[in-house]
Amino acid sequence: MRTKLIAGNWKMNNTPSQGVALINEIKETANAASCDVVVCTPYICLPAAVQAANGSKIAVSAENMHFEDKGAFTGEISAAMLKEVGVTYTVIGHSERREYFAETDKTVNLKTIKALENDIVPIVCVGESLEQRESGVAFDFIAMQVKLALNGISAEDAKKVVIAYEPIWAIGTGKTATDEQANEVCAFIRQQITALYGTDVADTMRILYGGSMNAGNAAGLLAQSDIDGGLIGGASLKAPDFCTIINAATNA
Ligand code: PGA
Repeated sequence: MRTKLIAGNWKMNNTPSQGVALINEIKETANAASCDVVVCTPYICLPAAVQAANGSKIAVSAENMHFEDKGAFTGEISAAMLKEVGVTYTVIGHSERREYFAETDKTVNLKTIKALENDIVPIVCVGESLEQRESGVAFDFIAMQVKLALNGISAEDAKKVVIAYEPIWAIGTGKTATDEQANEVCAFIRQQITALYGTDVADTMRILYGGSMNAGNAAGLLAQSDIDGGLIGGASLKAPDFCTIINAATNA
């Protein structure tokens, strides 16, 4: 049985003090939950978030990291830096990073490898655009993204990776994939993992859905056979909504 994972992706929202206040508001619900709870925060919020989450069930995630250990990469943050402040997860290859910051499948792969080397759980994002869905290439595209992200990663390490299926057309648009659409792709991703690594890894790896998941639709999505949790943007910024989603995962 896979433990469900509910991850709030704050994106470029919340100052450190606002982040601490939000963590304090969700702590009680997180502690009572049977799922894992993660908050993905801007770099500047991470130390305060780790401190606020200390002693609770909430784990803290970065939203990105660099793939080199150190060096002349102005403005970047390394895995060792994240690790030292107590960060245990990082988002990698979010579609906003791919679109606005020139992330490629290659950098996604390098970052995934580097995160694993540093005992940081990578939450690797994949997902098709509306154009790709409408032209019937979504599944091929996602299979390619998954395969390239995991290139060179051992089966043992692959078990630790979390994949988030986030159709770009559903992110921040209020247009959620239907329960069936989301589950179909998550099941397809699991088939790809089976082909790459076998059923042991495929049965272990957690595959999340993301894209306008909210307090109203979470229960339906989280009840699906192949959806092991959610990566939640907008609704993770409101404590009552995020708590409703955490409870939906506990009850799924
Ligand atoms: P959304 O964002 O929930 O606001 O659609 C999800 C994400 O981009 O991770």
